[in-house]
Amino acid sequence: MELHFDRHRRLRNHSVLRGMVRETRVLASDFMYPLFVTHDDGRHPILSMPGVDHLSLQELRRETNVLSELGVPSMMIFGIPAVKDDVSSEAYAENGIVQQAIQVVKSENPHMLVATDVCLCQYNPAGHCGLVHGDQILNDESLVLLAQTALSHVQAGADLVAPSDMMDGRVAAIRAKLDEAGYVQTPIMSYAVKYASAFYGPFREAAHSAPAFGDRRTYQMDPANVREAIREARSDVTEGADILMVKPAMAYMDVIRAVKDSFDLPLAAYNVSGEYAMVKAAALQGWIDERAVVMEMMTGFKRAGAEIIISYFAKDVARYLRDM
Ligand code: PBG
Repeated sequence: MELHFDRHRRLRNHSVLRGMVRETRVLASDFMYPLFVTHDDGRHPILSMPGVDHLSLQELRRETNVLSELGVPSMMIFGIPAVKDDVSSEAYAENGIVQQAIQVVKSENPHMLVATDVCLCQYNPAGHCGLVHGDQILNDESLVLLAQTALSHVQAGADLVAPSDMMDGRVAAIRAKLDEAGYVQTPIMSYAVKYASAFYGPFREAAHSAPAFGDRRTYQMDPANVREAIREARSDVTEGADILMVKPAMAYMDVIRAVKDSFDLPLAAYNVSGEYAMVKAAALQGWIDERAVVMEMMTGFKRAGAEIIISYFAKDVARYLRDM
């Protein structure tokens, strides 16, 4: 009997040919490395994120050089302020932790692409991403402070601002504020599609930003929704976003693909703290091959449609690629 079938394995026998027909590649230049900067001295491990530390400004200087040497071209700065108040003053203080951090990085390596997270949750005692009144998270009143925060980052030298607060209209407010100050060339990467996710747990420990009451479900998205993701992204495109982001990444691959297919803006995927912690925990137990799992995840994000990957694994990936 004559069988007719395809020989898919023909292209898999030689490693060179496997490389030639590979559809997706992960490069160090795809990555943005998130880091946590504090006013304290030295470097202090974040327990739920093995390999990630709280950095002093001096340690940030060192870290900038480590990233440069590894070929990781970009970072996303998160600040941990010394004091919090109801109007999140340290978020937009001229000498705030993020504003200082930007200057440190830029003085060490002016070529590093410096992105900043624009949000209020680390900066007010309620631990919410906007202004709080009673048990309400105010929308329009928050826009003023968010825009002011973004402008202060850009004035300090940030190359790109990334609002993560999920207030409606923040991209419009930030764009208007930057334009008015003459920063028409500074791009906005909006956390357009940000879910109310349990995967942010380790980050909130690291950033001391867990909500003091309630949760973030009145502003972050319901993990069950994908059509709503399109609406969110469309608003940000209309308001002037230059890059869209989906966050978290691993459990939201379909959302990355849906946003990619619906809009022609560049897309970032945020491989968040809980995703990092899970992989690290299993790897430390010897239960998975960390390197192989990490590269498979990163390949998955790119295959799903992300051009940019924001990941705590950025340095590891750059090392794997270098030592290949
Ligand atoms: C601030 C912010 C958060 C993250 C990024 N920006 C936390 C949150 O929304 O609760 C999470 C990042 C991570 O988990 O790695 N709003």
